[in-house]
Amino acid sequence: MRYPPQILEEIRARLPVSAVVGKRVRLKKAGREWKGLSPFNAEKTPSFYVNDQKQFYHCFSSGKHGDIFTFLMETEGLSFPEAVERLAAEAGVPLPKLSREDRQEEVKRKNLYDVMELAAEFFQASLQGRFGAKARDYLAGRSLGLETQARFRIGYAPPERFALRDHLAGKGVPVEMMEEAGLVYAGEDVKVPYDRFRDRVMFPICDVRGRVVAFGGRALSADVPAKYLNSPDTPLFNKGRLLYNYHLARQPAHDRGTVIAVEGYVDVISLSVAGFPNAVAPLGTALTEDQLTLLWRLAEEPILCFDGDKAGQRAAYRALDVALPSLMPGKSLRFAMLPEGQDPDDLARAGGSAAVERVLAAARPLVDVLWAREVEAGPLDTPERRAALERRLRESLALIRDETLRRYYREEVESRLAALSPDSRGGRFSRQGGGPRRDFQRPQPMTPSARLSVSPLLARNPLFAGSTAESPREAMILCTFLVHPELLQNHAETLADLELEGRSTQMVRSLLLDGAASGEPADPAVMKARLERAGLTAEADRLAALVRPGDRWMLDPHADPLRLEDALRQAITLHRRARTLHSELRAAERALAEEDSEANLAWLREVQNQLSSVEGAEADMDNAGIPGGH
Ligand code: UTP
Ligand code: MN
Repeated sequence: MRYPPQILEEIRARLPVSAVVGKRVRLKKAGREWKGLSPFNAEKTPSFYVNDQKQFYHCFSSGKHGDIFTFLMETEGLSFPEAVERLAAEAGVPLPKLSREDRQEEVKRKNLYDVMELAAEFFQASLQGRFGAKARDYLAGRSLGLETQARFRIGYAPPERFALRDHLAGKGVPVEMMEEAGLVYAGEDVKVPYDRFRDRVMFPICDVRGRVVAFGGRALSADVPAKYLNSPDTPLFNKGRLLYNYHLARQPAHDRGTVIAVEGYVDVISLSVAGFPNAVAPLGTALTEDQLTLLWRLAEEPILCFDGDKAGQRAAYRALDVALPSLMPGKSLRFAMLPEGQDPDDLARAGGSAAVERVLAAARPLVDVLWAREVEAGPLDTPERRAALERRLRESLALIRDETLRRYYREEVESRLAALSPDSRGGRFSRQGGGPRRDFQRPQPMTPSARLSVSPLLARNPLFAGSTAESPREAMILCTFLVHPELLQNHAETLADLELEGRSTQMVRSLLLDGAASGEPADPAVMKARLERAGLTAEADRLAALVRPGDRWMLDPHADPLRLEDALRQAITLHRRARTLHSELRAAERALAEEDSEANLAWLREVQNQLSSVEGAEADMDNAGIPGGH
């Protein structure tokens, strides 16, 4: 749902940031601003500022910045519409009326929520009623006492075919709605609609606002075909988009800075009883991307704590693969390993909170688990098997979308591979003292884009043309390698990993890397011949012409090698920084287009400033180049 900017403005105008923030953070007046201890980091000296005039807060310790809406999103895990609704109510600002269809939809949905609520109340009453004794015994046997039953609204569905149906009908709920809510089986081949859940312990599943939208029902005995029966997807419920217990876990997760994902409902409940209320679970399926996004709304490094069996391990690996593309600097997963054959429920009951604490504290970072999965897949006693390992790892790392993080992962994996090699001095995996690689022969390209070597003919194909705008700095980096191919000895890997904007620069890079891998002497004349053969001479000349005057000295064959090395490193650093900022700029622009807020505007300005200072650094380098006089 989209809210008109005036409405958001109105809410901001009525609610000073200090009032909203002040509910969580003790604020002291500091000139025209307020300051206090950061709610995002544990700190002793206040570095968190609130400015009511400018309607934003800024946290110097975490770099977080935003308005009243983002504050609730960041500290309570609310979604944007939820934050708007909450603050609109607080400010007494009416939200816009929905269109007629929206309203009809809304009324229907609202009624469905009511039906689910009625069902939840019915199940709860049945559990505590005359015929709930068997279920109460079952729960007692699992140490789920009254207080826990109330907190998680646990209930019981009686064994009769029409118990819930008759109850709801008595409240005036039409059977079509029961069907839509997934509470009864109906349809052409079913003469009389009947209850979906019978003789089961019922766990209500709530949406992020705590409204009941589905149920999980557990059989009381082991001989029933499905141990758990869940609601089907309905207009209120999509099993891949919710997490069990999210609404209760949200605040504790924020307060503790961590969230635990387990496999089962009972695991969540047992952890909560043991003092870990920040636990959630998927809903009977593998963890989806949407669910990961929810987890990341609660903490930067959610801990997956899956069962200590083969299935739990498979589920963890699957989650790892789902997570890889979305990993970001600082944003990852950790994996807690349970003792063989145990699930979190067993662990909490056998060892209490101390045992859980131990297991969580020993949670392993994602990179370890990724590594372990591939290394444990089979023996590594031959070059072929080690090469296959390297390839599998490379394929996984290629999934990481964030360029900076991908680079760090590559470095980490490379050094682990090096340590695996039987002769870690001269071997194919060798790397001297962790320093830059000297092995000129090493077949290089690692990134898909670098591996993609394009024929000149194909390059002229408009389909391939894509973006072609290389920056002067990009051109400078590539041309420097062409004139000084000996630099590839130290920098081939860096070059392979560089994100390049220009089509020609990408082609020249492939050529350089092929040259480096071929074993030919590192000679500019040899590179020139390669350019010639590839039909890229004119392209290379065009690139050279793009190089800024202040950087031209780098293309001098007699340039001072040390200075050259320095300038190249600096250029690469700036290039990477600029690429990252460019993607951030796009994100900030999108955010602003989506929501025209002070916070988004401030973000955009901030990124623009940083970008221009990176460009400024380039200008400085230009100047630095001139007086040197080469
Ligand atoms: P588990 O089989 O690990 O069950 O399934 P559990 O959580 O340990 O259950 P208890 O302790 O025996 O009661 C984990 C989750 O997988 C889903 C449920 O969401 C369950 O919580 N599941 C399992 C189903 O949806 N259907 C099933 O038949 C079994
Ligand atoms: Mn269990």
